[in-house]
Amino acid sequence: MELIALCLIINSLCVASRLAVKPQMETSANTEAIGWNSWNTFKTNFNQSTIEDTASTLVSTGLARAGYNYVVLDEGWQALTRDSHGRQQPNATKFPSGISYLADYVHRLGLKLGIYSDAGIYDCGFYPGSYGFEEVDADTYATWGVDYLKYDNCGGFYANTVSPQERFLTMSYALKNTGRDIFYSLCQWGNQFPWFWADQFSDSYRMSGDIKSSFNSDSSGVCKTAYCLNTGYAGVSVLTMIRKMREISAFQAPGSWADMDMLEIGTGTMTEFEERTHFSFWAALKSPLIIGADITKISSTSLAILLNKEVIAISQDDAGIAPTFLPNISVEGSVQVWAGPLSSQNSKCVILALNYGNNSTDITIPWGQIPTLQNFKSAQLKIRDVWAEQNLKTTGMEIKLLNVSSHQTKLLVLSAIQR
Ligand SMILES: *[C@@H]1O[C@H](CO)[C@@H](O)[C@H](O)[C@H]1NC(C)=O
Ligand SMILES: *[C@@H]1O[C@H](CO)[C@@H](O)[C@H](O)[C@H]1NC(C)=O
Ligand SMILES: *[C@@H]1O[C@H](CO)[C@@H](O)[C@H](O)[C@H]1NC(C)=O
Ligand SMILES: *[C@@H]1O[C@H](CO)[C@@H](O)[C@H](O)[C@H]1NC(C)=O
Ligand SMILES: *[C@@H]1O[C@H](CO)[C@@H](O)[C@H](O)[C@H]1NC(C)=O
Ligand SMILES: *[C@@H]1O[C@H](CO)[C@@H](O)[C@H](O)[C@H]1NC(C)=O
Repeated sequence: MELIALCLIINSLCVASRLAVKPQMETSANTEAIGWNSWNTFKTNFNQSTIEDTASTLVSTGLARAGYNYVVLDEGWQALTRDSHGRQQPNATKFPSGISYLADYVHRLGLKLGIYSDAGIYDCGFYPGSYGFEEVDADTYATWGVDYLKYDNCGGFYANTVSPQERFLTMSYALKNTGRDIFYSLCQWGNQFPWFWADQFSDSYRMSGDIKSSFNSDSSGVCKTAYCLNTGYAGVSVLTMIRKMREISAFQAPGSWADMDMLEIGTGTMTEFEERTHFSFWAALKSPLIIGADITKISSTSLAILLNKEVIAISQDDAGIAPTFLPNISVEGSVQVWAGPLSSQNSKCVILALNYGNNSTDITIPWGQIPTLQNFKSAQLKIRDVWAEQNLKTTGMEIKLLNVSSHQTKLLVLSAIQR
């Protein structure tokens, strides 16, 4: 035990002095990253053509112009062994022109390239992880022109002696020391409650096990709250991911975003109301918005959801504050209401009213129950129903939403009327 403690102290002293010789870079993450990731649709079955086609489709569909500009290669880009210099290398069959070619390709389109590695000796699929090779790998990514690293936590055989925080910190320093601005996205599934510590060295962190392409059906072993740990391979439904954010949304802050995992919009398992609910919550709760669908085959309905400018504006709002769950005006099992402040365009707040019961229902939101509205009269505010693209009329001291369908979310933006 003593020996281990001493090693940790020496290690952190070395790391600290290495950092001190170089000024720290500005964080690259004033707003959340939005883009596309290969995992949800392709798992490890993707190649150079997949990435080229996706990048050009981001541009041709208008997704890039809307802000989706990171193209992230998840697990499966690597060869099974390092090269003779100890460097990670791509699978030469899948990526015959190499990764720097792909970085140039996406950069020419005005996009950014993301890559995947792992804080263990191996990653989840037994490709080489970066444990013990953090500087070599960070330098390799920087040389290739990579702009984003998703860093996983499988194969952590040293987990008992070197904590996840220590292993993730080592890569953080390695990335900063490259001198290249690389967005650092942690993926350790919320297991060590990263909302308490990940802000110290990453730009975003996953708050849960992997998402499942389902509105409300979880895999076995999934638990519903943030402080209960999943067992086995997680398969967390959209509704459960939202439930877990009740405990976490207050931690959202610029430069350290809780990542609710890739979007399942366009993967063919949800209705339009369900996909809109999914997008409303990911945007308002300030999760990074990372498309998981095959956008070369996506339906026009799903594409329109991803392109909704008013919803994206809520995600990218200057205040960077996520709404909180309001238990007093929610009904467990059927209605949940969330609200939080916005700063841009004189907006006062965003409200989400979700009917997650089986039947349509009316939802009444008393004015005095919305924390940011207590000093306003309804006549002083414009109430925008974002998905309906209409302004609502209110009477008196409440907002009444009629006939909200099962699994529908009413997304409202309230802003002061200019006089
Ligand atoms: C490399 O890619 C080829 C073609 O997709 C695949 O058959 C092979 O299994 C891959 N190798 C590794 C180590 O993933
Ligand atoms: C990528 O995979 C697709 C489908 O299997 C194939 O048609 C294409 O030729 C591959 N491209 C490369 C560069 O390997
Ligand atoms: C919510 O309800 C509880 C218990 O009824 C009450 O004590 C509390 O003041 C209420 N909160 C608000 C914001 O109205
Ligand atoms: C809603 O419907 C689902 C599936 O039909 C069922 O399992 C569930 O019990 C229903 N919930 C309520 C509150 O009726
Ligand atoms: C709720 O919807 C179900 C179908 O999903 C229907 O069978 C049931 O009668 C409805 N209940 C009410 C109270 O409308
Ligand atoms: C409620 O909304 C649904 C569509 O979401 C519509 O089919 C239905 O007619 C509406 N019912 C009422 C009473 O307005």
